[in-house]
Amino acid sequence: MIRTVEWHNGAVVLLDQRLLPWREVYRVYRSHSALARAIRQMVVRGAPAIGVTAAYGIALGMQRVRRATDLAFERICNTFAHSRPTAVNLFWAIERMRQVYNEARDQPLDEVKKRLIAEARAIHREDIATNHAIGMHGARLLPERVRILTHCNAGALATAGYGTALGVVRAAKELGKTVHVFATETRPFLQGARLTCWELLRDGITPTLITDSMAGELMRRGDVDCVIVGADRIAANGDVANKIGTYSLAVLAKAHRLPFYVAAPTSTVDFRCASGAEIPIEQRSPEEVTHIAGRRVAPAGTEVVNPAFDVTPQSYVTAIVTEHGVLRPPLRSAIGALSRARSLRLYGDSGHGIRTTEGATTTRGQRKVTGRR
Ligand code: MRU
Repeated sequence: MIRTVEWHNGAVVLLDQRLLPWREVYRVYRSHSALARAIRQMVVRGAPAIGVTAAYGIALGMQRVRRATDLAFERICNTFAHSRPTAVNLFWAIERMRQVYNEARDQPLDEVKKRLIAEARAIHREDIATNHAIGMHGARLLPERVRILTHCNAGALATAGYGTALGVVRAAKELGKTVHVFATETRPFLQGARLTCWELLRDGITPTLITDSMAGELMRRGDVDCVIVGADRIAANGDVANKIGTYSLAVLAKAHRLPFYVAAPTSTVDFRCASGAEIPIEQRSPEEVTHIAGRRVAPAGTEVVNPAFDVTPQSYVTAIVTEHGVLRPPLRSAIGALSRARSLRLYGDSGHGIRTTEGATTTRGQRKVTGRR
């Protein structure tokens, strides 16, 4: 399995995704501020992977303190909270680490440190299990032969492993379905061309790479059966923030009567965010647009906008595939039911031991749990 992020000998190891597919370089981080910088610079990227990295980063930062003070802890959390604004998994992971810190802070320092590492490891493990559950729920939606268009990279590289949208692809293959993947190159950072193609080829799945502007023509010709993407933040009404270009694909899918699926863990749902209008959209540097692989492709002096994400209104979303099952429109009430089930602790934050809004089947470890409780 691809190791996107790992805790190793008291340090955090990241696969440097900026260098893929040319070189496979692992970098070791021993300070939390360097790790937060790595998130900002996209050494690691993808909403769940950023969350896992931040959790490890908080544990890492606390290994160095001489006293477990709230001030020291919050300073470390703040460094991560300011790394990237859109993916809510980052803030979700910080909140989980904060809960553990609050419960442990009166314990001896070594115990606080141990519990924080244990929590980060749990977040890591749970993300992989969550993706397997998403994969199975999503795969069951697909016909026996299916041509999927995906955008950006919502795969193992964007998570702790297995992936969300690409988890659906992997699970469909495991169920014996015949799957073909069209990967959009995903300008400007080329996550589709560089990362999705790299990780699928490593798994023996040969994708067809297209430029972002080819999607409509492929759909018009009848070459695509559905679109599956990941998400960085899902609002309470079902609006979805994901990589820039997602909204265009959703509009195209609707125009061609194709299902548009979003595959995401519940840690990507921001229950406090009423609609997509409230989601902060990261603006990245103009150089990402004016340059490709370090080479200028637009004349100096050109003006640039570079929003890293867009918001797809809920009306374009056919279904959201979570680890708890498939949420269907009306999404506001499906997400509301999910939120109520969480607050009643019918399932935990991590999402195992689960019931779904449809009463679908899901897993707790190896054991199957079916239907509503
Ligand atoms: O800017 P990135 O590469 O971090 O953006 C990643 C995406 O938009 C993914 O689609 C999203 O995080 C889902 S990953 C499972």
